[in-house]
Amino acid sequence: MSGIRPLTLEVNGKRHDLLLDTRTTLLDALREHAFLTGTKKGCDQGQCGACTVHVDGERVLSCLTLAAQAEGRRITTIEGLQKSTRRELEEVA
Ligand code: FES
Repeated sequence: MSGIRPLTLEVNGKRHDLLLDTRTTLLDALREHAFLTGTKKGCDQGQCGACTVHVDGERVLSCLTLAAQAEGRRITTIEGLQKSTRRELEEVA
């Protein structure tokens, strides 16, 4: 069943309240609706890994994952990794 429905994603510790078609992939939700473009669209078929994100600490191909499957879970993109790496470097310095 398809249709538009509200969906909340937690990305890099920030809540994103979105209205999405139920068939929207996590990749498209991140790039086109949450405007987090660090996650790249390569093959869009699960072959290249350019769209990899972490969901609850597990590596996931976001082009093969529905956004609805990630609701209520902790999503980390390259932007989130960048923040934590910078914070860790500042703590060391
Ligand atoms: S875009 Fe290539 S694996 Fe997802």
